[in-house]
Amino acid sequence: MAHNLRILPLLIALLLISMSQGTAIRDTITPTQPLGDNETLISEDGTFALGFFRPTGNTNNLYMGLWYNKIKDKTVVWVANRENPVINSSTGFLSISINGNLIISDQNSKVVWSSNTANVTNPVAQLLNTGNLVVRDLDDKENSFAWQGFDYPTDTLIAGMKLGVDLVTGLNRTLTAWTSDSDPSPSQYYAMMDIHGDPQLVLCQGSKKVWRTGPWNGFRYSGVPDTITYSGFNFSFINNKQEITYSFTTNLSVLSRLLVNKSGVAQRSVWVEGGGFWNIFWYAPRDQCDYMPPCGPYAKCDPNNSPICDCIQGFTPKFPDKWAFRDGSDGCERKTPLDCKNGTDGFLLVPGTKLPETSNSTVDMSLSLADCKTKCLNNCSCTAYAPADVRNGGSGCILWATELTDLRVYTGDSYAQKLYVRLAAADLDKSSSTKSHGSGKWIIILVTLLGLVLLIVVWVGYLKLRQMKRRRTGAILEISASFSEPSSSNQVADSLPGKDIELPLLDFNTIAAATDYFANANKLGEGGFGPVYKGKLGDEQEIAVKRLAKTSVQGLDEFKNEVMLIAKLQHRNLVRLLGCCIEREERLLVYEYMPNKSLDFFLFGKPKDVVFDWETRFKIIMGIARGLLYLHHDSRLRIIHRDLKASNVLLDEEMTPKISDFGMARIFGGDEAEANTRKVVGTYGYMSPEYAMDGIFSQKSDVFSFGVLVLEIITGKKNRGVYLAAPHTNLLDHVWNSWKEGNSLQMVDESIGYSYPMNEVMRCINVGLLCVQNHPEDRPLMSSVILLLSSDNTLLPYPKEPGFAARRVPHQMETTSSKPYSSSINGITVTLFEGR
Ligand SMILES: *[C@@H]1O[C@H](CO)[C@@H](O)[C@H](O)[C@H]1NC(C)=O
Ligand SMILES: *[C@@H]1O[C@H](CO)[C@@H](O)[C@H](O)[C@H]1NC(C)=O
Ligand SMILES: *[C@@H]1O[C@H](CO)[C@@H](O)[C@H](O)[C@H]1NC(C)=O
Ligand SMILES: *[C@@H]1O[C@H](CO)[C@@H](O)[C@H](O)[C@H]1NC(C)=O
Ligand SMILES: *[C@@H]1O[C@H](CO)[C@@H](O)[C@H](O)[C@H]1NC(C)=O
Ligand SMILES: *[C@@H]1O[C@H](CO)[C@@H](O)[C@H](O)[C@H]1NC(C)=O
Ligand SMILES: *[C@@H]1O[C@H](CO)[C@@H](O)[C@H](O)[C@H]1NC(C)=O
Ligand SMILES: *[C@@H]1O[C@H](CO)[C@@H](O)[C@H](O)[C@H]1NC(C)=O
Ligand SMILES: *[C@@H]1O[C@H](CO)[C@@H](O)[C@H](O)[C@H]1NC(C)=O
Ligand SMILES: *[C@@H]1O[C@H](CO)[C@@H](O)[C@H](O)[C@H]1NC(C)=O
Repeated sequence: MAHNLRILPLLIALLLISMSQGTAIRDTITPTQPLGDNETLISEDGTFALGFFRPTGNTNNLYMGLWYNKIKDKTVVWVANRENPVINSSTGFLSISINGNLIISDQNSKVVWSSNTANVTNPVAQLLNTGNLVVRDLDDKENSFAWQGFDYPTDTLIAGMKLGVDLVTGLNRTLTAWTSDSDPSPSQYYAMMDIHGDPQLVLCQGSKKVWRTGPWNGFRYSGVPDTITYSGFNFSFINNKQEITYSFTTNLSVLSRLLVNKSGVAQRSVWVEGGGFWNIFWYAPRDQCDYMPPCGPYAKCDPNNSPICDCIQGFTPKFPDKWAFRDGSDGCERKTPLDCKNGTDGFLLVPGTKLPETSNSTVDMSLSLADCKTKCLNNCSCTAYAPADVRNGGSGCILWATELTDLRVYTGDSYAQKLYVRLAAADLDKSSSTKSHGSGKWIIILVTLLGLVLLIVVWVGYLKLRQMKRRRTGAILEISASFSEPSSSNQVADSLPGKDIELPLLDFNTIAAATDYFANANKLGEGGFGPVYKGKLGDEQEIAVKRLAKTSVQGLDEFKNEVMLIAKLQHRNLVRLLGCCIEREERLLVYEYMPNKSLDFFLFGKPKDVVFDWETRFKIIMGIARGLLYLHHDSRLRIIHRDLKASNVLLDEEMTPKISDFGMARIFGGDEAEANTRKVVGTYGYMSPEYAMDGIFSQKSDVFSFGVLVLEIITGKKNRGVYLAAPHTNLLDHVWNSWKEGNSLQMVDESIGYSYPMNEVMRCINVGLLCVQNHPEDRPLMSSVILLLSSDNTLLPYPKEPGFAARRVPHQMETTSSKPYSSSINGITVTLFEGR
């Protein structure tokens, strides 16, 4: 065995030597060196390979194609002779004639395809690093090509390829889908550049337009709001006298392609090296509003509405009867005719649109937006105008003189495209004209009232502050004395290194007054063991007060636990305890107030069309990770939180996350790696399988909860605890399946907005999945998690199957879960003291 292993490197070396000598890797064809079907050309940097292939299910036909050399599963991106295969031949040849004509021939030297190039004196065909197969003069130092494969795209646009029209040579580059997996010949589905009016890409089926991108607005196509800002990408749209083309370039390490697939869908994907699959991160058409034309003239389409078609302001359904049956195809007509001669018409702003069909529009890039408006107003046939370039506040001018068709609106579009529609004065902005009268009086009254209230508040606050200051000085609690516990129990109080904790002791009446005597209006929510109120100490310090429910027996221990623990912890990402109160029956905790409530409110409670952008979400993920790292490794104690969940992550005014609720946290001794508990505490959906089933908890069970939280933050969906009946309704299941299929980006929350750094999101999904792996030993420690999240270049491990705790929940757990815990909605909170 050992002997064999030593020989192995030698064998590999020998193999490499023989390979480099025998079949020299080449990227060129010369008249004396044709390419047989047993060979491939490899581009110099090894990215692309060109050679003959037989499509699956059609072994009679031989095609000359281009694919990625490094991707095992052959992804053909270009075919030279898609309509002219080498048929029934044992072999095929690609050769170049002495005057530069590139030729594909069969075993009998019958020519099936040629590039029709000529007049090249010293010809060579070369496969460039971009994947472009070019014919050039070997002596031509200017690198001008007599012919290039990039001029004849097949169904795929790769980096550097252009889609569109060369106005000088008349070249018309389109993407046309393969007929089937076994037949690369052109099908009826294609994408082309429509150069009429304001140019746009159009996806067609035969002569029928299926979907259009809308015109390019400087950033992107007006109908493709989800163009992703990706560090390795550069999209380019050229519209001048020579050409109207669209192309993209990528970082060398990024392999991406835009494809018209066999069912006529345009999709863009990127190769995920670590996973070994193509991740489709965008496709169109996607919803009802994409298919042209969803609604008739002057109706806007919104897929989130029902019915999806709606007349724009100033218009009314042309045939209300049909409209009532949800048939909006006839569109809308004006309520009031235009009054052009009098010059009373105005414009209605429709924000966040995909511009209406532009093929009959006229464009003038030299006009400013103001001139554009004037020009439209002065031409009685003009129906609408819009800026042609939305950058820098908008410039250039698109004018419509026809009905406006195929108009749709987007919500959450951060680079909203504006459209100005001409309306008669009577139909313009009725609501605002009534508002402006009579409201002035009310504003004055309101301002006076507000001023008075403010004065009172300041005065009362001042009094409170003086009172507070007097109380606070000197009133420091020595908690350890009153909290000492029997030494046998394995609790916080014992594990604390120094038992004396200094924490301001506040008096009950002060806190009660600060919260308006626990008024319902000030109630922020129900925590694990009692309600939480908002309050104000003095005139500026806002506080959150947790009031331990008097009925809760166990709560008292948790109260102590939390006080002992949190008073010792100081971190930017942990909620700060300002003081506490123990008086008669009352147990109160006073925290800093978090104006943005908790994470679950943002993730699950907000209306879907409010943008909760990626930058914020990523900041929150990193913040939670740092807080947890501090708990696990960096603080003086080693702490397992045991109940990490969205509602326990609070957000301050800058959306900095703060981990809260340490009622169930446990402190570990230095050498302790995991512990066992008979009473399982925590929240379904966040509990790791080994904890939920066997009561074993460790840092890795917190890592599991963190992973669930990350996936919830990305998808905006809750990992439900109650999914025993339907195994595939679990969020982890969903993400895992879409990850395996390479569509994980389709799980990304819609309210994230349309532009986010795809690589960062992918990285977070990957890390999230690593954290929720079934076996605790497979899950990374928090220190690695932070490293994986923050480094751009590390290759992430491919995750194993997640643990689906709930699917295998033991009987005992189910009975626990059915007990009604009245005080808590989303968390089951039971005792810490399992008495081991
Ligand atoms: C490919 O086949 C041709 C003829 O069948 C032969 O001459 C050539 O050596 C072969 N090349 C390789 C690399 O096997
Ligand atoms: C190719 O061979 C198949 C059967 O092997 C035959 O049906 C077909 O007609 C042949 N085509 C050509 C062009 O020779
Ligand atoms: C090749 O050159 C000859 C003479 O210079 C010219 O007549 C002919 O049109 C050229 N052919 C092509 C395809 O450029
Ligand atoms: C380009 O080709 C497509 C598909 O054949 C066609 O619909 C389109 O009109 C052409 N464009 C131009 C400018 O010739
Ligand atoms: C390639 O992408 C990385 C980030 O993934 C970026 O830092 C780098 O600048 C890019 N390089 C080029 C040449 O665009
Ligand atoms: C993006 O492409 C355009 C056009 O090719 C080029 O002018 C620009 O410099 C590129 N930008 C980056 C960041 O590569
Ligand atoms: C084409 O792409 C769409 C969207 O990604 C997908 O649903 C469909 O199955 C694809 N069709 C084929 C034939 O692959
Ligand atoms: C111009 O407006 C006035 C009142 O606003 C109206 O009476 C008159 O008919 C209008 N003229 C035309 C030509 O529409
Ligand atoms: C654009 O103009 C053409 C020819 O004038 C006409 O057939 C077509 O219906 C017009 N399209 C729209 C959307 O008005
Ligand atoms: C008004 O606009 C239409 C369409 O853009 C154009 O054909 C016509 O010449 C314009 N009329 C005037 C007076 O500018």
